[in-house]
Amino acid sequence: LSKSLQAVRGMNDTLPQQTPFWQYLEQVLRDTVTRYGYQEIRFPLIEYTALFKRTIGETTDIVEKEMYTFLDRNEDSLTLRPEGTAGCVRAGIEHGLLYNQVQRLWYKGPMFRHERPQKGRYRQFYQFGVEVFGLPGPDIDAELLLMTASLWQALGLKQQLQLQINSLGTPASRANYRKTLVAYFEQHKALLDEESACRLAVNPLRILDSKEPQLQQLIANAPQMSEFLDPASRSHFEDLCQQLQTAGISYEINPRLVRGLDYYTMTVFEWVMPILGAQNTVCAGGRYDGLVEQLGGKPTPAVGFALGLERLLALLKDHLRVDSTPHAYLILLGQQAAAQGLLLAEQLRNAVPTLRLLTHCGEGSHKVQFRRADKSEARWALIVGEEELNSDTITLKYLREEQPQQRLPLPELIKWLKGQVT
Ligand code: HAM
Repeated sequence: LSKSLQAVRGMNDTLPQQTPFWQYLEQVLRDTVTRYGYQEIRFPLIEYTALFKRTIGETTDIVEKEMYTFLDRNEDSLTLRPEGTAGCVRAGIEHGLLYNQVQRLWYKGPMFRHERPQKGRYRQFYQFGVEVFGLPGPDIDAELLLMTASLWQALGLKQQLQLQINSLGTPASRANYRKTLVAYFEQHKALLDEESACRLAVNPLRILDSKEPQLQQLIANAPQMSEFLDPASRSHFEDLCQQLQTAGISYEINPRLVRGLDYYTMTVFEWVMPILGAQNTVCAGGRYDGLVEQLGGKPTPAVGFALGLERLLALLKDHLRVDSTPHAYLILLGQQAAAQGLLLAEQLRNAVPTLRLLTHCGEGSHKVQFRRADKSEARWALIVGEEELNSDTITLKYLREEQPQQRLPLPELIKWLKGQVT
């Protein structure tokens, strides 16, 4: 196939056989957050490039090497959103949603990052995200984690996901930590790989994230953020841990959890799924109390997370049964039946709203129509021919079971269908 007839690398089509899984997942997500009082917000797929630079951070992987950035026809630099927090905060400030108010918001949609594609990592991927504004305490951090736990419960994944948490403190305490960390890695500079040596100058905390095998010992012995936490961040974190314990949510404190975006303060967390392999973080987020002010809004505490739908679906598919095959296929034999077919189908659908009914289109022989009915995977064929038209009946034929076929008056068929497809 020539390149222009293939999807762009790292960008996936979702075919009709797969969409029922997506629809199911999206519905569970939406229903769950709605029960917690969260409201949907929608914002554009494209923002000014500067927004992402100021939000995510100039020296992060996302901004340095993963953004889809282009000049539009006015020579404005625009970027396909690599995540949702930036656009959500921008919209909140622009429309005056944040000042002196509490907002619990959710969004979903595609995000774009030019990463190296592999299983669980794509260039267009889908996130479901939540952002809360105006609440400074650890209680809302705990609410978010309880809400995600209840999602795992609803999806039957509770046993498989592990929660990791950490605190990054205030910018001031993190700056102190950073100095100590730089001094420590400077002492061992010879051991650093090229990427970590670069990070040492610009974003030393990210060295803690490195998966490089020969660095693991060095990282394990590095000074930890927890020793540098300011008293307010420390008590916020202890409080959160206490609330999680009370709620019976198990967690692991991971002192190396630093996250790849610069806006975080205090609480950060990730839900990981060990069996997923390298791309095993399903849901991630944390607090970003400084961001709204940094972007020109009034100081507003904020916290949120986003989960990767592809990664969640990879976990779900094995045990999910979603049925969207039609119940019935309407076979129309002869011109007169064909002429009345669409209206008859409307009548059936109106009478039995849960019925999934396919109407044969394009006429064709008995044989052709039955072949299509069979291929549709419908359980029953509903057959209308001359005899049925003359007697106001429809013939019901079982396509998947050994059952005698029956000819029923329309009202009786409707009654029978109602009993079958509720
Ligand atoms: P993030 O950690 O960059 O955070 O992404 C969140 C989740 O999106 C990841 O845990 C993963 O499941 C999924 N994800 C990220 N990149 C890819 C990819 N290339 N392919 C497939 N899935 C991916 C954020 O985006 C923050 N905005 C989260 C947040 C919201 N923090 C506060 N509020």
